[in-house]
Amino acid sequence: MKRGEKYVWGLIGVLLVVAIGRSLLQKQDVRRGEIPFYSTAPDAVARPAFDLYKKYHCKECHSLWTIKDMLQNVPAPMLDGIGSLRSEAWLYEYLSAPVPQEILPTRLKAEYKMPSFANLPENERRLMAQYLASLKVKDWYLEETKKAEYEKLTGLEYHPK
Ligand code: HEC
Repeated sequence: MKRGEKYVWGLIGVLLVVAIGRSLLQKQDVRRGEIPFYSTAPDAVARPAFDLYKKYHCKECHSLWTIKDMLQNVPAPMLDGIGSLRSEAWLYEYLSAPVPQEILPTRLKAEYKMPSFANLPENERRLMAQYLASLKVKDWYLEETKKAEYEKLTGLEYHPK
């Protein structure tokens, strides 16, 4: 290698290290690893609701508390923070809809779209809606959560208004 080339490669190396370092620092700066998602539900709601969540295989398509079936690859919105985007009444109506896509259109193949849970007993739909509505996101991560949801639902890039 010529001296000039060495110099150029050296410079590229330094720039790379600086760029990677800066992006890591910026990410950390966001909130030093603080988790933005939390639930306001008491145990008496969260426990039985999460049992339903497992029973009805929601985790085959959605992720919640970082839990998702690794074998599945359905691009459904994550449910962390959903209670900051949707009201309990909306969630109950959505879970009760014979055709959820009349409320929220899908962009996916039939086997991936949100199934109807209209046939579940009413108390289960109410409990699930109550729990989902309790899944909040802290203000500093709300925009990110909206962006992720929008991009999952539409497949388009999000441009805040
Ligand atoms: C077969 C995959 C699949 C399963 C199983 C599934 N969902 Fe979904 N869900 C989706 C998809 C995909 C969407 C986005 C709308 C669409 O494409 O139909 C969605 C949308 C939603 C939304 C609206 C999200 C938003 O951004 O407003 C909620 C809430 C939800 N699902 C809850 C659940 C719950 C609770 C369960 C279990 C009882 C469940 N889902 C089971 C695929 C699934």
